[in-house]
Amino acid sequence: MNRKYIPPKKNTNNLVTLALTLVVLALAAVVFIMILVLKDGRPADESKSTSIVSAQSAPQTDASSQAVSQDTSEPQTSETSSQTETSNYEDYIGVKYKIDISQWEQYIDPEDDTPYLILVNKTNPLDRNYVPADMIDVVHTRKDGRATQKMVRTAEKALEAFLLEAKEYGVTNVSVTSAYRSYDYQEQLFNSYVNQHLSKFSSREECEKYVETFSARPGTSEHQTGLTCDMHNLPSAEVTFANTPEAKWLAENAHRFGFILRYPADKTEITGYSYEPWHFRFVGRKAATIMYENGWCLEEYYAHIIENKN
Ligand code: DAL
Ligand code: ZN
Repeated sequence: MNRKYIPPKKNTNNLVTLALTLVVLALAAVVFIMILVLKDGRPADESKSTSIVSAQSAPQTDASSQAVSQDTSEPQTSETSSQTETSNYEDYIGVKYKIDISQWEQYIDPEDDTPYLILVNKTNPLDRNYVPADMIDVVHTRKDGRATQKMVRTAEKALEAFLLEAKEYGVTNVSVTSAYRSYDYQEQLFNSYVNQHLSKFSSREECEKYVETFSARPGTSEHQTGLTCDMHNLPSAEVTFANTPEAKWLAENAHRFGFILRYPADKTEITGYSYEPWHFRFVGRKAATIMYENGWCLEEYYAHIIENKN
């Protein structure tokens, strides 16, 4: 039988598959290297705004069901990442810290700012028994014989950084006259204002309405959160403080330390309180910066977040 020679088939399929695999691997390596390069070199403000936006989903709207927890934020584990974070923020807002901010960063910009975004106002009261956890002495309490004021640790530490930086700008004589106030103390305060002004009104109710424009009813004062302080350089809190260079510096720089001026002059209709250039509230740097940049008070910030959620 005349058998025809059939040459062994070359395994071309295997060669093509191998070549394709090599090409795919090479492309993957190029993409991976490009991602690394872009990540390190991305603009600082871009990375910052990403982080600011992500904080918008954090706050809860029901203050009465929310407890101000103790400071659970961990110190930065990586010195380098903390430094990058700081310099990104500085680049973003265009102002550098004069003090060495590294040891304060964990307080002014807590990783989880939810506990500091609690909304307390006339329609979001705190329980009579609500007392914040982890309060410490306020280092900058006015030294005029009054009791050392207390604040939640994170807020107090952020305040220390705020006033240290203030010193660098010549703001040296501002001190804290009031910080945490219990429900009972706020009740006494409110009633004492009512009694003080009673003679000018035809009824107690009318007088209370007037007092409510500058003093909170018990349960509705932010001072009960331990996240607030009144600070100024006058014998007592007066709107004239707003005209001092100290007040101007504080108002313009509060957000860099996680604070907001809680009752601004142009928001009285929303907050329900007259202008208080001395009343600062800690919310954390991300939220404070958003509010500062948009000119929002805390109620508007909440409204914006709810809008975005819907
Ligand atoms: N003065 C502010 C509104 C308060 O009493 O909490
Ligand atoms: Zn106050």
